[in-house]
Amino acid sequence: MNKPNYQEARVRTKNKVNVRHYEIEESAKQVGIGKKYYLRTYGCQMNEHDSENICAMLEQMGFTETNDVKDADLVLLNTCSIRENAHNKAYGMLGRLKHMKATKKDLIVGLCGCMAQEEGVVNTILTKYKWVNFAFGTHNLDKLPEIITKAIEENKQNIDVVSEEGDVVEDIPVKRASTIKAYVNIIYGCDKFCTYCIVPYTRGKQRSRRHQDILKEVNELKDEGYQEVTLLGQNVNAYGKDLDDNYGMEDLLEDVAKTGIPRIRFVTSHPWDFTDRMIEVIAKYPNIMKSVHLPVQSGSSRILKLMGRRYTKEEYISLFDKLRKIPNMHISTDIIVGFPGETEEDFEETLALAKYCKFDNAYTFIFSEREGTPACKLPNKVPEEVKEERLQRLNAVMNQYFLESNQKLLDKEFNVLVDGKNETGKTSLSGYLENNKLINFDGPDELVGKIVKVKVTEAKTWSLNGKLV
Ligand code: SAH
Ligand code: SF4
Ligand code: F3S
Repeated sequence: MNKPNYQEARVRTKNKVNVRHYEIEESAKQVGIGKKYYLRTYGCQMNEHDSENICAMLEQMGFTETNDVKDADLVLLNTCSIRENAHNKAYGMLGRLKHMKATKKDLIVGLCGCMAQEEGVVNTILTKYKWVNFAFGTHNLDKLPEIITKAIEENKQNIDVVSEEGDVVEDIPVKRASTIKAYVNIIYGCDKFCTYCIVPYTRGKQRSRRHQDILKEVNELKDEGYQEVTLLGQNVNAYGKDLDDNYGMEDLLEDVAKTGIPRIRFVTSHPWDFTDRMIEVIAKYPNIMKSVHLPVQSGSSRILKLMGRRYTKEEYISLFDKLRKIPNMHISTDIIVGFPGETEEDFEETLALAKYCKFDNAYTFIFSEREGTPACKLPNKVPEEVKEERLQRLNAVMNQYFLESNQKLLDKEFNVLVDGKNETGKTSLSGYLENNKLINFDGPDELVGKIVKVKVTEAKTWSLNGKLV
């Protein structure tokens, strides 16, 4: 058994990152034959992409996918630790699975993803959830075939989670959820250690993939007909800093743009590592989408300092202004309210920043204490009802700007990548503008996967309606 450990998870050495290649034992390829798996994914795009790897590995083992949990022989939860409600959802699902297991003794249940990297969670699984068959973390995702094989063969709980800085593993198979848009990892882990955040503990050291491997993947996707790639990382702007080839995010963006893939997106950008050259590259290439997610977290420099964000309000605004100068640039953000010590004045600074920036979109959160992070120890906790009230006041301001941002697009024509049939059923198709706004419109099914011109006819807070031109 390997157990994670908060102290080890915090360690960052100067050791070079090891690049490994995925391997699967021949015997593991028989383990799932005739069995079905059900995979539930929580959390961010990184987890969604990990799940695309998980599906492919399980299918190599012979398992087939089912969307009905009642039908499954193996249930795997790919979990998220970011806020308490993410934990609660996973524990709620485990509760349901316990009941299922009472009547279906052979059911195999496993936990992976960020929660599995948490010392506290693993201790809970070991003591209160002894019936969970196995757990593995984000650092040894590629060992899934081995870990599941062992859990099944030995028929006892197999916990295999390592708290280490992590390797880069190439050639893990992938079963992509879309044939139009694809995620491409460019950097794993995070070394920023914002004081509220669990990610540096659950995802390990910041480590970049070699650009040759990334470009190879993008070229293959392009050849397969993919229309869009999203370059993924907790902080994509730090790309390359851990390698010694003098090749950074600017260079990578430029080379990915030169592959000619029609659309390129990237998330997430920490303001700290945003360079002027990166802004020039974004502006220069039409296939780099004019959409940047630039989390600010707070509008108070005092709180930003407590959060360990490494920029002031003024520095954020100066970067924001430079980006806004790019025509049609869409800027979204993340904000946390109720961080320990946040006063009414601090919060009003956040409101003032929101009013200045008029963000095109945003995710707003109530501060959630994460075990093992420094923010847990900060004094002056904000009462729940104050946090709630601040969130509502902030959302009221922000939503108005999302609507205004959409109204500016009225009666204009835009390129839209049609990514599917509209789920609401009110129109037949939906897709995204270059600036990442969602639009619904009518059109024939053959347009799915194509880039078409659509005129905006109606603006709502969260989406647009349009008409095919
Ligand atoms: N790497 C990204 C953020 C990843 S987490 C970045 O640095 O921008 C996504 C968002 O969740 C964060 O931007 C933050 O707003 C929010 N978040 C992270 N930890 C949180 C916590 N403990 N409580 C509330 N929100 C949190
Ligand atoms: Fe968390 Fe900060 Fe890293 Fe983002 S940059 S993942 S908020 S520690
Ligand atoms: Fe959640 Fe882990 Fe992503 S904590 S937000 S799934 S990196």
